Amino acid sequence: MTTAVKKNVSVIGLGDMGAALVRSFLKQGHAVTVWNRSAARAVPLQQLGAVVASSVTEAIAAGEVVIFCVTDYPVSRTLLETAGATAALKGKLFVQLSSGTPQEAREFNTWASEEGITYIDGAIMAVPDQVGRPDTVFFMSGNKDAYTQSEATLKSVAGALQYMGEDPGAASTWDMGFLSVLFSAMGGFFHSIKLFESEGLTATALGNMMFQLAPALGEMLKQQGDIIGAGNYNANHSSLNLCAGSMDMFIQHAKDANISAEVPTFIKGIFKRAQDAGYGNEHVAAAYKTY
Ligand SMILES: NC(=O)c1ccc[n+]([C@@H]2O[C@H](COP(=O)([O-])OP(=O)(O)OC[C@H]3O[C@@H](n4cnc5c(N)ncnc54)[C@H](OP(=O)(O)O)[C@@H]3O)[C@@H](O)[C@H]2O)c1
Repeated sequence: MTTAVKKNVSVIGLGDMGAALVRSFLKQGHAVTVWNRSAARAVPLQQLGAVVASSVTEAIAAGEVVIFCVTDYPVSRTLLETAGATAALKGKLFVQLSSGTPQEAREFNTWASEEGITYIDGAIMAVPDQVGRPDTVFFMSGNKDAYTQSEATLKSVAGALQYMGEDPGAASTWDMGFLSVLFSAMGGFFHSIKLFESEGLTATALGNMMFQLAPALGEMLKQQGDIIGAGNYNANHSSLNLCAGSMDMFIQHAKDANISAEVPTFIKGIFKRAQDAGYGNEHVAAAYKTY
């Protein structure tokens, strides 16, 4: 049996996520070269075995797979304006793991293609301490050959790596779809912590319950997606009127407990618009129709 040789990896950007990628690549036996604007962030990684480059261009030149994980695409562009950086990328596999919009990803892909650089775009569906697990998901999209070239290397840090198709913006689209749900859920979660605390329970208890019920929550959201996808809102349960009514319960509780009613009031507004349009007896998913 032959063991595949692990590719040399360069990581540009050693924020919380970039540093987590580096630690994970080192653990998996990759040679890793790093660069960060603030040099101090490279020190702990050097102690773990990473080689610290003195410039972006030097870091790019050292890797077969070059990963950018900085704040956003404009920062990536600025770094690529460093003397020699773009030329050094030629012949390498360039992996963009900084977050951005689908359109930014497409524009970056076009730029790379015009420069003759092999490029694959990705989105990290994890927080730093979830990197490197067999169930860690990164969404990747763009040129299929570039994905194939990157697959074994990226699986070192994301065991459940997924290819989302040839559109370079696809990884970002899936990422934004997830994040929109996540950040909206956070708004509700913070309200629920206030609700719990006002009734003598803790934020930790709420988090534990949500972890336990996450599969049921996922199933409920999937059901909404199926209903909206099929365009059939005939309700045999969970009508819009029923769910809108429960928003009044939350607003009443907020008054009783002297906590903010901002979140339930906002959701009530979304439901009310659909009720006013005559969808009250349909499934709650009908609120989408006036969104
Ligand atoms: N953290 C997460 O949970 C998470 C999850 C999924 C995806 N991501 C994505 O991963 C990317 C990196 O996130 P992070 O958590 O590592 O962020 P972070 O801790 O804020 O680090 C930002 C990185 O970008 C660099 N940077 C910012 N502006 C720069 C500039 N003008 N020139 C050069 N370098 C610059 C920073 O360098 P300095 O150290 O010099 O400031 C640092 O390396 C982001 O696109 C983020 O959306 C993060």
